[in-house]
Amino acid sequence: MTITSRWPHAFFAAAATYAMIGVCWGLAMSITQNHATYSAHAHLNLLGWTSLALMGTFYALLGQGVANWVKLTNFILSNVGVISMISGLFMYLGQTGPASIYGPLLAVGALSTVSGFLLFGGTVITTLVRKPAAA
Ligand code: HEM
Repeated sequence: MTITSRWPHAFFAAAATYAMIGVCWGLAMSITQNHATYSAHAHLNLLGWTSLALMGTFYALLGQGVANWVKLTNFILSNVGVISMISGLFMYLGQTGPASIYGPLLAVGALSTVSGFLLFGGTVITTLVRKPAAA
């Protein structure tokens, strides 16, 4: 199978970046014995690494017929979501910033993340309905 679209690679590049940060963060928590921000670490790994890698996998295997603007929008929403939400969570849990900053970051991050998942979910389902894979 030849994959011509660069979108799966873009999703994997973002996912791998979050994984590198996420595992270093886990290591830092272990070494310092300070687990205060563990929930932000968990969300970075699960939303950033795992979810973006799964999205990239879908676009690589079954996304050839999906319009580029859908992949671009999915990519932007999911990445803005991860970056804003994890920064906000980190600030909130580690008490390193005021509510006036982490509040909007969490709001934008959560809404963007949810929108990315809704777009992705809708794309997966409409792809199945429009062009079912051979049984
Ligand atoms: C070198 C890699 C990693 C290290 C050293 C590490 C370390 C840690 C530490 C110290 C905690 C806090 C535990 C606690 O206080 O309860 C934690 C929590 C967590 N990590 Fe990691 N982590 C790593 C990679 C990952 C990856 C790859 C994922 C997911 C894809 C992940 C998901 C989670 C989750 C879900 C929690 C929360 C667990 C709970 O509710 O207690 N971690 N990790």
